[in-house]
Amino acid sequence: AQQVPDILSSEFAANPYPAYRVMRESAPLIWHEATRSYIVSRYEDVERVFKDKAGQFTTDNYDWQIEPVHGKTILQLSGREHAVRRALVAPAFRGSDLQEKFLPVIERNSRELIDTFRHTGSADLVTDYATRFPVNVIADMLGLDKADHPRFHQWYTSVIAFLGNLSGDPQVAADGERTRHEFAEYMLPIIRRRRNELGEDLLSTLCAAEVDGVRMSDEDIKAFCSLLLAAGGETTDKAIASIFANLLMHPDQLAAVREDRSLIPRAFAETLRYTPPVHMIMRQSATEVELSGGTIPAGVTVTCLIGAANRDGERYADPDRFDLFREDLTTTTAFSAAADHLAFALGRHFCVGALLAKAEVETGMNQLLDAMPDVRLAEGFDPVEQGVFTRGPQTLPVRFTPVAG
Ligand code: HEM
Repeated sequence: AQQVPDILSSEFAANPYPAYRVMRESAPLIWHEATRSYIVSRYEDVERVFKDKAGQFTTDNYDWQIEPVHGKTILQLSGREHAVRRALVAPAFRGSDLQEKFLPVIERNSRELIDTFRHTGSADLVTDYATRFPVNVIADMLGLDKADHPRFHQWYTSVIAFLGNLSGDPQVAADGERTRHEFAEYMLPIIRRRRNELGEDLLSTLCAAEVDGVRMSDEDIKAFCSLLLAAGGETTDKAIASIFANLLMHPDQLAAVREDRSLIPRAFAETLRYTPPVHMIMRQSATEVELSGGTIPAGVTVTCLIGAANRDGERYADPDRFDLFREDLTTTTAFSAAADHLAFALGRHFCVGALLAKAEVETGMNQLLDAMPDVRLAEGFDPVEQGVFTRGPQTLPVRFTPVAG
């Protein structure tokens, strides 16, 4: 059998796709000592763990993976408790709340960032735009003071470092726990005040939400807001950077999208398949489970490689090619992510913010293409993906001819 590079090696970090192929084809179930988990990489296995039709998996692993930095969030809940929490928060991220309250917030925050570089003819789409836009949107949706946005960014950076700390650096772990305390000190008084003066913002919606007589405590709301930093910030940040990188690397597809903006949802779906922001998600087995390649015992961690599953040749034709016109994408105008790829997971914890992410990417793409019709990569620059747990280009310098407006 071929040697599989360790998922914590620098070779893997530089380019995990060859290793993903070896794992899918000849080692679909491997024990990984450093993360003390079984790794699965085939589409059918990752899909099966996420869907969990037989009730064989829990998210108990999040008690140590995310609780130290976020507290108890929706991700750790299960059963009826999870269903109620989902019903409490989900309406804020779809339908009229999304269209009427938050779309204007998205449009305004995107425009403000583009205005900082639109007249200059050059920008770094990662540092000037993608890393700022989704976090600004969340802070603004929550109705937080604009002066506090820089602190929000600092916490964001420390939270995502904590979550990506697969090798367990103690300094990063300590920073994450400090952030949890600072964030609580900041958010809890705001939540208490907001309960007495409800407005149109997301925080007010969360304070007022009630399902079957259940409401969220101040601590629940604080933990949810903290989760949004990573779940809604880093993911969408990387999705925007990657959709641009993919299109800039495929100028014919970029030209097609520029001419026909109704292709943006397809470009987004193909980006999430080809270069998903989150490459791995863990679960814990509740029982003994049979997967491709063998049986795993109860009570162990399972690392699901979304990045590998999304390029499984058993599921997608020519999987290593970026092609927004590919036939195995069902996305046209409707939102059908669950059928297209595993980037938002599946089942109970399927991303609650998928429609919000889609609205952000569509708005961002449209505004950026309007402001930079002839956008191209800076001369001699090739985008490079970085990261293991989450991945995306760290820098994306572009040039364009400024247009009036
Ligand atoms: C859950 C990915 C955007 C909020 C998830 C999960 C994934 C994911 C893989 C499942 C985690 C698990 O099963 O353990 C993404 C990607 C995004 C994105 C790739 C962008 C392209 C957003 C946004 C928000 C958000 C914009 C909110 C503002 C959440 C929440 C959950 C979640 C709250 C937990 C749901 C639950 O436990 O029921 N997301 N996400 N996400 N996402 Fe997203």
